[in-house]
Parts: sequence; structure tokens; C-alpha cells
Amino acid sequence: MAKDTNKLAVVTGAGSGIGRTVALALSHKRLTVLAAGRRLQPLKETADIAVSGVKPVSADVATVAGRAAIVSELGEDRVHFLVHAAGTMPIQRLADITPETWRQVMATNLDARLHLTQALIPNLTPGGRVLFIGSMSATKARKGSTAYCTSLAASFMLQKCLKLELAQHAILVTNAVPGPVNTRMLQVGMAADVDVFPDSAEYGALREQGKLIEPETVGRFYAWLLTQTDDQSYAACQWDIRDESHHDAWIGSRGLYDAP
Ligand SMILES: NC(=O)c1ccc[n+]([C@@H]2O[C@H](COP(=O)([O-])OP(=O)(O)OC[C@H]3O[C@@H](n4cnc5c(N)ncnc54)[C@H](OP(=O)(O)O)[C@@H]3O)[C@@H](O)[C@H]2O)c1
Repeated sequence: MAKDTNKLAVVTGAGSGIGRTVALALSHKRLTVLAAGRRLQPLKETADIAVSGVKPVSADVATVAGRAAIVSELGEDRVHFLVHAAGTMPIQRLADITPETWRQVMATNLDARLHLTQALIPNLTPGGRVLFIGSMSATKARKGSTAYCTSLAASFMLQKCLKLELAQHAILVTNAVPGPVNTRMLQVGMAADVDVFPDSAEYGALREQGKLIEPETVGRFYAWLLTQTDDQSYAACQWDIRDESHHDAWIGSRGLYDAP
């Protein structure tokens, strides 16, 4: 734990769900965390329940101004970890996708990951790590979720390209899939009309079977991945929380689906 003291992480989407639990898990390891999201109040709640060192910054990462707010808050501080967890998943029939909703999904789930990483290159320390929260939806097409699936597929390729591009700065990049996680995003999906989003039934069945992963478990996984893995493993693997080969290292004897 002591070795991570004074390290700084930037976590987007830190006001709820996965982003919040990553911020909390990193704060538990005594890192300082810049917690970004659009709504200030949920970010303050993240800071209030953290051990220490979580600084909320209201920033819409889909916009130039929002990303500039993060850069400005950092000043010349060195960043060790950048976690892209902000995301949006509208459930829509194909006919209902407008240019505006399509653009919002791409701007949040894809453009922000590129442009915020670019903007933070001067801050990212050599050996620093960038983490893309990935999704099974990058490779599995889901009816009613065209924009989300497309954005996550492109995001997956983006992190592969950034991995190559940022090697010259000794910055490591990876993608890690969290499985189906019991967050607001999934709850909205489960509540959706099954005609529009047939996978709502699949997620509902997983919930009945106790096979949704709690966000706290995911936060613990990502904090381990960021702070405890060696450089080669971090960057070389396409991580998936359900891969049991690494469970001993971060979850011990607890089950993936157990209450945290
Ligand atoms: N839940 C799952 O099963 C699952 C599975 C695979 C991948 N993921 C990924 O995990 C990430 C987190 O999702 P979640 O499940 O934790 O859902 P969530 O609770 O809805 O979290 C999404 C977060 O992103 C923030 N956000 C959205 N748009 C933003 C913007 N333009 N700028 C800044 N922040 C923004 C939201 O806060 P504000 O509204 O205040 O901005 C919110 O805190 C997403 O990237 C999602 O694709 C989730």
C-alpha cells in the first residue's frame, strides 16, 4: 500500500457505478484521485465515503471545455493512472437514433477517451497506466444498443492504437472487461422493453441467478490491475474479470458473484 502513496489517478464517471468504486478502491490504497463526471453532487458523495484524497471535478468529458477543466485542475501534477469509466448506453430502436444521440454516445464513449488521453500526455508519468473499461458489447451485437455496441467496438481498437502510440512515452494502455455489473446502466437495460432490447431478458435472468457482479468487486479488480500487475502483463493482456486465472491474486477465496 505504501508504495502507491502520493500517486495520482484521474477517474472519469466517478460519481456512480464502476467509476465510483474504482475511485474508492484507489483511495483505499492511499492514492489521490481526481474524480470527474458531469454532476458535482454524486462526485462529492464519492469523496465523502472515500478514505481520503478524492477531489471532485465537474467535467463533461464529451466536450472540449470539460476536458480542459480536468487539465486545468491538474496543473503540472503528474498522473500515474487514467481510468476511462464515463459512459452512456441509450436503449433505442434503430429508427429512433438521431444524429444528436449518436454523436453524444460517440463523444462520451469514444472521443473522450482519445482526447482526454491526448490532453493528459504531458501529465502522465513514464510508467503511467491508462485503463479503458471495456465491454462484451464491443464484440457482441445487441439489438436496441447499436450506438453503444459500435462505440465500444471502436473504443477497443482505439486502446490498441494508443498502446502503440504511447509506447514512446512509456505509457501503458489496456482494456479490461467487467462482465455484467449491477449498476444504474445495467438496471436501465434490464428495465427496457424486451421488444426494443431483447437482452434485457438475459440480464434479468442473470440477476435471478445471482450472476450480476457488484460494482465494489469490480472496483477491487481494477485497483489490483492498475497497481499490482507487472508492466508486461498489464499491457499485453486483454483483461476480463471473469478469467479465473487471476482471481487468486485479487479476490482470494471469495466468489465473483458474492456480496462484497
Ligand atoms: N454495468 C455494466 O454491466 C457494464 C459492463 C461493461 C462495461 N461497462 C462500462 O462501465 C462504465 C461505467 O458504467 P456503469 O455501469 O458504472 O454505469 P453508470 O453508473 O451509469 O456510470 C456512468 C458514469 O459516467 C458518467 N458520465 C456519463 N456521461 C458523462 C460525460 N459526458 N462526462 C463525464 N461523465 C459522464 C455518469 O455521471 P454523470 O451523469 O454525472 O456525468 C456516471 O457516473 C461505462 O463506460 C460502461 O460502458 C458497464
